Amino acid sequence: MDKQNDINDKFNREVEKRLKSKLAEYESRVREEIQRELQKEAELLASDEQKKEDERIESGKKKEIFYERFGINFRIQHIILFSCTIMLIVTGVPLKFPKNSVSQFAIGLFGGAPGARAIHHFFALGLIIIGIYHLLYTFWSSHGRKDFFELLPNLRDFSDVYNQIRYFLGFRKEKVKYGRFSYIEKFDYWAVYWGLIMMIGTGLVMWLFQGKFEPIIFGEINLAWGPEIITNYVHAIAREMHSDEALLATLVIIGWHFYNVHFNPHKFPMSKVWLTGKITEKEMKDEHALEYEKMMKKKEDNGD
Ligand code: HEM
Repeated sequence: MDKQNDINDKFNREVEKRLKSKLAEYESRVREEIQRELQKEAELLASDEQKKEDERIESGKKKEIFYERFGINFRIQHIILFSCTIMLIVTGVPLKFPKNSVSQFAIGLFGGAPGARAIHHFFALGLIIIGIYHLLYTFWSSHGRKDFFELLPNLRDFSDVYNQIRYFLGFRKEKVKYGRFSYIEKFDYWAVYWGLIMMIGTGLVMWLFQGKFEPIIFGEINLAWGPEIITNYVHAIAREMHSDEALLATLVIIGWHFYNVHFNPHKFPMSKVWLTGKITEKEMKDEHALEYEKMMKKKEDNGD
């Protein structure tokens, strides 16, 4: 009897032991299964959220509001101005430093010094024409007149410079609010005026002294009386002024203008306003807050 009991006990213990191990095995399988299901669910949820986020961005893009800053006429003037300036720099600077190997390479590309000179003269004519056109545009077009007055420097520009420096140094919490043109843009504009007067004025003196002008397709423009009125002394001064101002202008363009419209981290690789003429609502609020507020007030007054 005792023996039979022993066998039964052993049997029961073995059953219990195997059941426990099977249960543990089964439990871990069920856990793994549940974990897999939950992970799948989480992934689905995340991709769903991503989809919604993408849709939100997409619809946000569609709804983005743009403001026109520069009309087509002004943009074309700017494109002609910078094309002429770039060509005048790449043909003029190698003529100033003819012994430099980069200059020699550049002069070689233009077919030697006479070619570089002819191309320089051609774009000089382009610069003179676009300068005169801009003057006419400023006085005749209503946009031109409006922008001209907006670009005039005033006392507020000086306080803006002061406050912006305080902001950069951490002594002021809010950024300075600008109108249609900040002091940076005004400086850019008037520096070009000054540059054009200097470059055209001194260029014309050198041109007269040479007695002829060869702007490629226009052939040779004869000015034989030029050397009679321009002495060697006047020519030497004009040449010095022309070449020094050319270097100064190049450095200002690269250091000031390129920083503000290309290398500034908010603009890199470039502001597209020169091409599209438009800026986003965010740019409008950040960079021309006073103009934006004025526009909103006008809209409100008109009941829009
Ligand atoms: C952004 C505008 C311009 C730049 C950067 C520029 C640059 C230069 C440079 C660096 C030189 C060499 C000076 C030297 O040999 O020391 C030069 C020469 C000259 N430039 Fe300009 N220039 C510009 C506009 C003009 C304009 C508007 C005219 C004409 C009205 C002009 C006419 C001349 C003439 C006649 C020379 C003498 C070179 C030659 O023909 O042999 N330039 N320019």
